[in-house]
Amino acid sequence: MIKKIGVVGAGTMGHGIAEVAAISGFRVSVVDISWDFLNRAKERILDSLKKLYEKKSLLEKPEEILNRMEFSTSYEIMRDADFVIEAVPELIELKKNVFKTLDEITPRHTILASNTSSIPISIIAESTKRPEKVIGMHFFNPPPIMKLVEIVPSKYTSEEVVNITIDLAKKMGKVPVRLKVEVPGFVSNRIFLRLMQEACREVEDGEATIEEVDSTARNKLKLPMGIFELSDYVGLDVAVDLWKVIISSGTAEDVKCSLFQKKVDAKELGVKSGKGFYTYPAAGKYKKVELPASSKVDPARLISLAVNESAWLIQNKIVNAKEIDIVMIYGFNFPKGLLEMADELGLDVIYNHLKDIYSKGYKAYKPNDLLEEMIKEGKIGKKSGKGFYDYKS
Ligand code: 3HC
Repeated sequence: MIKKIGVVGAGTMGHGIAEVAAISGFRVSVVDISWDFLNRAKERILDSLKKLYEKKSLLEKPEEILNRMEFSTSYEIMRDADFVIEAVPELIELKKNVFKTLDEITPRHTILASNTSSIPISIIAESTKRPEKVIGMHFFNPPPIMKLVEIVPSKYTSEEVVNITIDLAKKMGKVPVRLKVEVPGFVSNRIFLRLMQEACREVEDGEATIEEVDSTARNKLKLPMGIFELSDYVGLDVAVDLWKVIISSGTAEDVKCSLFQKKVDAKELGVKSGKGFYTYPAAGKYKKVELPASSKVDPARLISLAVNESAWLIQNKIVNAKEIDIVMIYGFNFPKGLLEMADELGLDVIYNHLKDIYSKGYKAYKPNDLLEEMIKEGKIGKKSGKGFYDYKS
């Protein structure tokens, strides 16, 4: 029975995860390396709780929820934690050290989860003497708003630990999606990467401007943010990091495009630094960006590479079509699933975009075998009655 949850790292994700755990009634211990970080986290949690309380999304007073939380620079407060979620920066040695310490200090029954978006869970697990109790629990920014949690077992994780983690995610009011097998970037970030890459390619190849790409994402696909805007929101350093991790794993063909790396080199990291592809009111302060109302960018072209990636994920039995759509709806606030959109726009149209971009020398756009098969069988989406989903007339 989980009573106390530990959170290591009080940054953007850590403070939000701790807040969600406390809202759900758990006692929560938060550890970070300095009181500056911890005090900032407390302020951000209180601000967020107040917002939720004012809109009556919370019935309990913010102060009462904060009373269930303790903060410290010492791991001693983790001694009686039943479940710990790590959310420190994406540096492999740092993560290994954190897990080694947690393994030494927490009781034997404690499950150790990582919120990593890019580091293999099995490598983290190997730094402990309880690899069967180590699991990926990937939250989305901002954690109090985004409902998705990807549950990522490594080759060592026991089924019991997977089930306890799924149950905990539900108790935290989240929608868990379990990956059958661990894959670099998981489902969410592999698809997010493909959206970023096509957005980047369109701009670098002179097909469209940043604002035109984002206008299509927001106004035609009805996404809450444009692709460049979302990348700024996530952090361009984080975006480039996950790009490199997925590509260097050898499980995805790269799309050569340097716009993102150039921004990171210029230390323009997005919302967190006040400037990225767009300029924000202040460092750490997001404001919806102004975009043109219409744009020549074709929505089917913009999602084509992400749909091809989805076909790869389905073909490799990582998740099914429905689960991909749940990831995009609950992890990125899409108004409908990516594959529902694809079926509506037409898989033949998407396929033709892939072939066209592939013919320009971009290998990543080679249509996936599953997609090839669907096209051959005439399963081209809603208009044919069959696509990723079946449509009854
Ligand atoms: N706590 C409490 N409430 C919050 C909040 C927080 N941390 N952040 C935002 N809100 C509330 C606001 O108060 C506002 O409430 P209201 O509607 O009652 O006024 C509501 O959420 C909407 O916020 P805003 O008005 O400030 O702005 P938007 O309407 O543009 O919504 C957004 C902001 C919810 C972030 C929306 O733009 C969105 O859904 N964007 C997509 C986010 C996304 O895709 N996240 C996933 C990123 S990928 C990731 O995290 C994985 C990693 O591994 C890379």
